[in-house]
Amino acid sequence: MNFYDNISLRPFNTFGIEAKARTLIECYSTFDIAQSLEYLRGKEFCILGGGSNVLFEGDYDGIVLRPRLAGITLLHETSDYVDLRVGAGVQWDTFVEYAVQRGYGGVENLSGVPGTVGAAPVQNIGAYGVEAGSCISRVEALQISTGKNLQLSREQCHFGYRDSVFKHELKRDAVITYVSFRLAKHPVVNTSYGPVREALLKVGDSSVSNVRHVILSIRESKLPAPDELGNAGSFFKNPEVSASKHASLLEQYPTLPAFSLPGGNFKVPAAWLIEQCGWKGKSMGMAGVHENQPLVLVNRGGASACDILALAYSIIRDVKAKFGIELRMEVNIVRS
Ligand code: EPU
Repeated sequence: MNFYDNISLRPFNTFGIEAKARTLIECYSTFDIAQSLEYLRGKEFCILGGGSNVLFEGDYDGIVLRPRLAGITLLHETSDYVDLRVGAGVQWDTFVEYAVQRGYGGVENLSGVPGTVGAAPVQNIGAYGVEAGSCISRVEALQISTGKNLQLSREQCHFGYRDSVFKHELKRDAVITYVSFRLAKHPVVNTSYGPVREALLKVGDSSVSNVRHVILSIRESKLPAPDELGNAGSFFKNPEVSASKHASLLEQYPTLPAFSLPGGNFKVPAAWLIEQCGWKGKSMGMAGVHENQPLVLVNRGGASACDILALAYSIIRDVKAKFGIELRMEVNIVRS
């Protein structure tokens, strides 16, 4: 376990925002985490994975806990599937690459998603028609309030769109230590996302490694690399609207793209709403809206969290005024 006082969090958030933490604790084992719980209880704290989905609003007068548990272990294997147990501190894409190299299927569509394995279940990361929750078989965590070792099945994780039990009942009360995945040995790839299907047709073979290859190149063409341009991926969630709201919007905006959901509601791409409000590629000070994917807010160099939030609130206000839809942030705003 490592302790650092009064440390810059800039290397630990992909927005590249300057903020200092009073204390940073890095934990390398379940034992380290169990020991650190006594420091956290009753104090201001937050848990930081890869820092790819957070915006520090200012200096953090509390404890930042970074679980750094390593390792990918084969738990069980049959002729059809493998069960892998992965440390919370493993980079998500290192795990995806490991799986794809062995021909295991399930997470290839999530190639290139930044962040750590431990953060993946919290917001149930999703991209190109697949959510991590669909392959997660178990999440191990330490409960902060009781010190208990929790073992949650997929059902107990209550996965939803960018949502899980870790954002509700277990919010601020669990440190994820290991995540287990069941991956297929004879994978059927998911090509529900149009551009992935088209690119695979050109390649002529839909092996998991080709899916990974295609997805990495789609991501590269649309999404800014955080080491080149600070960002935290999608800043907003795609909003859900009722069927009647969808119908009235469609009357006014016949080109409105939308995807129907099982319950009868519709999901509307926030990127489209933001573009229609004229924000695509625009900036406010050093905070900007990405030119290829307006759902992504970027730090054009030296932006403060205030700059990013001012831009975000302006976008929320304009989308609300034009479409009557309230965008919700996907990025976690951390304040002390
Ligand atoms: N669109 C526009 N203008 C643009 C870009 C997109 O109008 O400039 C519209 C189009 O109608 C397009 C639609 O938005 O069809 C969807 O765009 P895209 O396929 O890029 O996906 P998204 O819905 O904007 C979501 C995830 C991404 C994920 C992609 C791909 C959320 C909040 N975001 O974005 O996740 O990579 O789908 O599956 O659900 C992330 O969470 O950080 C993230 C990047």
